[in-house]
Amino acid sequence: MHTPCDTDILLVTHPKVGTTWTKAILFALKNRMHYPDLQEHPLLTNIPHDLVPLLEGDIYTKKKVLDLDPAFPRLISTHLPYALLPTSVKDSTCKIVYVYRNPKNTFVSLWHFQNRLYPTTNSLEEAFDKFCRGMNPFGSYWDHVLSCWKESIQNPGRKMLFLKYEEMKEQTTTYLKRIVEFLDCPFSLEEEAKGTMNDISRLCSFDNLSNLDVNKSGKRHLPDHSAAYFHQGNTGDWVNFLTPKMAEKLDHIIEEKFHGTGLKL
Ligand code: A3P
Repeated sequence: MHTPCDTDILLVTHPKVGTTWTKAILFALKNRMHYPDLQEHPLLTNIPHDLVPLLEGDIYTKKKVLDLDPAFPRLISTHLPYALLPTSVKDSTCKIVYVYRNPKNTFVSLWHFQNRLYPTTNSLEEAFDKFCRGMNPFGSYWDHVLSCWKESIQNPGRKMLFLKYEEMKEQTTTYLKRIVEFLDCPFSLEEEAKGTMNDISRLCSFDNLSNLDVNKSGKRHLPDHSAAYFHQGNTGDWVNFLTPKMAEKLDHIIEEKFHGTGLKL
């Protein structure tokens, strides 16, 4: 079995907050010395989920053996909330990258995803009611975010980086710099001059990834599964789906849950 290494990098996300995109970004940034030719990059022929294994899926359930040298940082992802991570992971000093997203966009994205893969899913209203009651595959969205956020406050020595999807979309290269600094592999002056961050930003962009054959037609577990991870990649889709009353209800829940925590969703 795999045991956590202090050098591991763990991406922790609630589903639909931009996991696929962040997997691509982390993979491209961390391995940029191995793949200098972006025309031959593994992201062009592999869905990001096949490059960054899921702890509870690929590693635990499917017993996938990581062919990564533990001497080098291994990149692993999980949808488990921080509180439910194995003690061995919590006790390690691995770096944690946590991505969160506007809850209205997260909900709408989840609804589209479920509808596309399981077309008999509930109506928007029923799905919204479940989301508000925290009935999601990995528990309530707000508890998921707060679980990691509270750990970062209580344990300031824990190496955690919080990234918000909407902010990353707005200023991708700024966030790429922030990520490489967090991972202790900052861009060199030469890379800055060459524009490596712009190249990686383009490589991982929605337009690029969503148009690749591997992501358009890959099957994974279900037909249409790969393409379902690339829906629209926008930051304000919720206005087209939620009524003002629904938006108000979600705002109220968020206000109540996040009041005084210092985190703004
Ligand atoms: P939308 O449904 O709002 O379009 P996850 O990867 O956690 O399942 O999140 C999926 C969301 O991320 C979807 O949002 C999807 O379109 C968006 N996404 C996927 N790839 C992306 C990329 N390269 N850049 C930005 N957003 C991306």
